[in-house]
Amino acid sequence: MSTQAAYKIIDHTFDVVVVGAGGSGLRATMGAAEAGLKTACITKVFPTRSHTVAAQGGIAASLGNNSPDHWTWHMFDTVKGSDWLGDQDAIEYLAREAPAAVYELEHAGVPFSRNADGTIYQRPFGGHMQNMGEGPPVQRTAAAADRTGHAMLHALYQQSLKYDADFFIEYFAIDLIMDGEGANKRCVGVIAMCLDDGTIHRFRAQAVVLATGGYGRCYFTATSAHTCTGDGGGMVLRAGLPLQDMEFVQFHPTGIYGAGVLITEGARGEGGYLTNSEGERFMERYAPSAKDLASRDVVSRSMALEMREGRGVGPEKDHIYLHLDHIDPTVLAQRLPGITESGKIFAGVDLTRQPLPVTPTVHYNMGGIPCNYHGEVVTIGPDGNPDHVVPGLFAVGEAACVSVHGANRLGSNSLIDLVVFGRATGHRLKSLLQPGAKQPQLAADSADFALGRLDHFRNANGGSPTAQVRADMQKTMQKHAAVFRDSALLAEGKALMDQANKRLQDVHVTDRSLIWNSDLIETLELDNLMAQAVVTMNSAENRKESRGAHAHEDFPERDDANWMKHTVAWFDGWGGTGGMGRIDYRPVHEYTLTGDIEYIKPKKRVY
Ligand code: FUM
Repeated sequence: MSTQAAYKIIDHTFDVVVVGAGGSGLRATMGAAEAGLKTACITKVFPTRSHTVAAQGGIAASLGNNSPDHWTWHMFDTVKGSDWLGDQDAIEYLAREAPAAVYELEHAGVPFSRNADGTIYQRPFGGHMQNMGEGPPVQRTAAAADRTGHAMLHALYQQSLKYDADFFIEYFAIDLIMDGEGANKRCVGVIAMCLDDGTIHRFRAQAVVLATGGYGRCYFTATSAHTCTGDGGGMVLRAGLPLQDMEFVQFHPTGIYGAGVLITEGARGEGGYLTNSEGERFMERYAPSAKDLASRDVVSRSMALEMREGRGVGPEKDHIYLHLDHIDPTVLAQRLPGITESGKIFAGVDLTRQPLPVTPTVHYNMGGIPCNYHGEVVTIGPDGNPDHVVPGLFAVGEAACVSVHGANRLGSNSLIDLVVFGRATGHRLKSLLQPGAKQPQLAADSADFALGRLDHFRNANGGSPTAQVRADMQKTMQKHAAVFRDSALLAEGKALMDQANKRLQDVHVTDRSLIWNSDLIETLELDNLMAQAVVTMNSAENRKESRGAHAHEDFPERDDANWMKHTVAWFDGWGGTGGMGRIDYRPVHEYTLTGDIEYIKPKKRVY
């Protein structure tokens, strides 16, 4: 009996299938459904539990409600924040469209915090400045207290239901269905499993949108949810397509020490500040102008240096204090209720009286599935075209690399990325697709690859439990692809990741059933994480410069002559067979979208 015959397959045909129901997936779902396209959204967790729910501080847009602002200032800050690795056509699109996207959320029902005059409240966030970077800090981050992502998810889910999208909730996407080779390679659907009853679902679609989030869980400590396993990135690598700029991993300066739980940058936006063991506000030395509101890579590196030089706090001098105890408790209760509660629960600290122990914690992947500002997945074509579009495949949100964040993302530019590019993808789908257009039959073996992989892991009978292989990977990533890297650390990291990957061949899955088999799903997730961890380590070892979040101690300067280019990297095989593939490059888009603003030329990045 073939693998396909051993599993019950239920077939579906949709115009559009979106995988993932976080902010970007829901916004793309809503847009496609609103355009009259028959749209499905597949999600492994209930939509309002997607990781966007954890986004706290807010969403960046130049509304100018609390201080003067302009979209060109937002664009400048994002280019500078990206350390000139961001594509300026896409960044212009983001900054220009941001206000409309935020007002759309307001009209969709997001309960934003308000100013006395009724306008949306905006707070300062790191790296966002007035006057094309000259300063002072701008209040650009629109907030719903410190639960902005939570509020957005609820509104977007309701809107998607209003437009009659079909939700497949608690379904795990296993693999893409691809057709053709070389320039003709296209995506024609996706295979997923219903977690509840083990049925296999084959979705045929004119377009598949990957909105599967980041892969933060390849690290030991991360603010990312346990579900952030980069399932879309794993599927893309197995489809023979590359991922882009994976060496750029963001450490958020304020994860709660020991727990990794996020404390929003909004805390510093509302006046919070960091101190070392000497009680010094050390950010004044590293970023004299922006201080605690410098960009995240700068603040995280400064904290790491303080700890390295013996000025960390605590018996092991391995963390830093965040002070909010000088802020009026009513302001804390109104603007930062969520982190006040997190401080109590996860650190036993009353923020109104005591400082909170924090440390830089993995938070966001700047790298991901390469795509253009319409959400279309791109790769280097067989003719060498670096912007070759893969028909039928789209990516949005943290899973994607548009690239607007380049080498370092500014805080609150993530939520705006989700809705601006989720919306842009909806527009593109509307312009490209005909509702109900006849689709070709899928090949008879279209489910074989996905089911072969599923069956392999379901029956995996080696000597290494999934949790052990995962811990190997996570500890290696934590130590070898950290805030600071150097050649020796990365070379050793590559070798250790190679070993961790091979160990997947020996993985052991205990539960052989198909009903809520979390052992099996965690193993499939681990396979996704592992490939991306290997690509991250190899891409980091390959980049011989320092830029944004990639701080290479043997190459401490940015090197625009040789390295102002996107890394694109492939991975061969799965399940511990094969490993790192080739590395190539795509040029950074050194041009803007319109003549309204000129290309912002690189300069030294100081805050
Ligand atoms: O600090 C925060 O509230 C996180 C926001 C972000 O990553 O954009």
